[in-house]
Amino acid sequence: MPKVWKVAVVGCGIGRSHIAEGYAAHPDKFRVEALCDIDATRLAKVGDEFAVPRRTTSFDEVLRLDVDIIDICTPPTLHVAQSLAALAAGKHVICEKPIAGSLAEVDQLIAAERDAAGRFMPVFQYRYGNGVQRAKRVVDLGLAGKPYLATVETAWKRTAAYYAIPWRGRLDTELGGVLLTQAIHAHDMMTWLMGPVASLFAATTTRVNPIEVEDCAVASLVLQSGALASLAATLGSHKEISRLRFCFEHVTFESSQAPYSPGDDPWQIIPASDEAAARIAEALRDWTLVSSRFNGLMAQYHAALEAGTALPITLADARQSLELITALLHSAQTGARVDLPIAPSHAKYRSWRQG
Ligand SMILES: NC(=O)c1ccc[n+]([C@@H]2O[C@H](COP(=O)([O-])OP(=O)(O)OC[C@H]3O[C@@H](n4cnc5c(N)ncnc54)[C@H](O)[C@@H]3O)[C@@H](O)[C@H]2O)c1
Repeated sequence: MPKVWKVAVVGCGIGRSHIAEGYAAHPDKFRVEALCDIDATRLAKVGDEFAVPRRTTSFDEVLRLDVDIIDICTPPTLHVAQSLAALAAGKHVICEKPIAGSLAEVDQLIAAERDAAGRFMPVFQYRYGNGVQRAKRVVDLGLAGKPYLATVETAWKRTAAYYAIPWRGRLDTELGGVLLTQAIHAHDMMTWLMGPVASLFAATTTRVNPIEVEDCAVASLVLQSGALASLAATLGSHKEISRLRFCFEHVTFESSQAPYSPGDDPWQIIPASDEAAARIAEALRDWTLVSSRFNGLMAQYHAALEAGTALPITLADARQSLELITALLHSAQTGARVDLPIAPSHAKYRSWRQG
């Protein structure tokens, strides 16, 4: 019988979705033993909804509980300290994005995980869904061929109501804007399917809401493969969509436009030829459905914990994503082309926020 892993969820905003879509959907794999939030009203509401037996307003108390996994869903500036404390307490850690406020802090987490009993999983639930997972299989089997070009749009809408939560919209507490908080998912999907970035130009502006952080961004990227990618992100789209297109030598992939689950079907997989179509059909013949978002992620997380294999999302993945953010913001701030990787000697290695 597979083990039922005991989880404590800290933070009842997106933490509620981790429970509803992820843990509650897999009662044979996870049990949420404890819930923590400094907001006692929210704690009681979510605790009652999912009948969580143990509730606390103290993160320190969570560290002492008999749980296997601490799932950190608090505001961004708490992530590093809470993750380090959870690893030091011998727990497995799941942490929401952004896991840290700089590449230096990510490297601190990587070093801490190396010395810890538990393992660390960042959260990129947008990789889960039947559409993007089929595309990933085709790419990983080498059937897509040479990558040509990706176009990635994150066109969402955020209004004053969203920014009523005080940590949002401020550089010292949100740590970034649309690139860090919203478009991070689609950009992770892009590098996951097409590979790492070599260099880029970016421009950002704040035009939609009266906030400190950027809410519109564009960028032109050259990937290490030589392929190109174009990114566009705004929080001022009156119809919300996420849209990704990937043009490869043998196939073009086109995502659905569901803003918050663009990995789900319908994805179009458009082969270049009858031969490519036959190879792709053969590769997907035994395909079994991969569930959306936290449901799919937590199923694979459980399988990896049980087997002791690599976690579905790793600190290296989060590092790559935050390196891209660092480069995008540095280019936008300086007007210069930025080459990756960002070395520890780079001006933005210790913080992408300094001007
Ligand atoms: N993966 C995704 O799609 C996704 C979606 C939304 C948010 N997020 C990320 O999740 C994090 C939380 O975002 P949110 O929208 O849920 O924010 P939120 O403000 O709605 O919820 C955070 C909760 O943490 C609680 N909290 C604050 N300090 C705490 C502490 N010291 N101990 C325990 N609880 C504490 C707050 O009371 C609040 O209820 C952010 O980093 C955000 O970027 C990710």
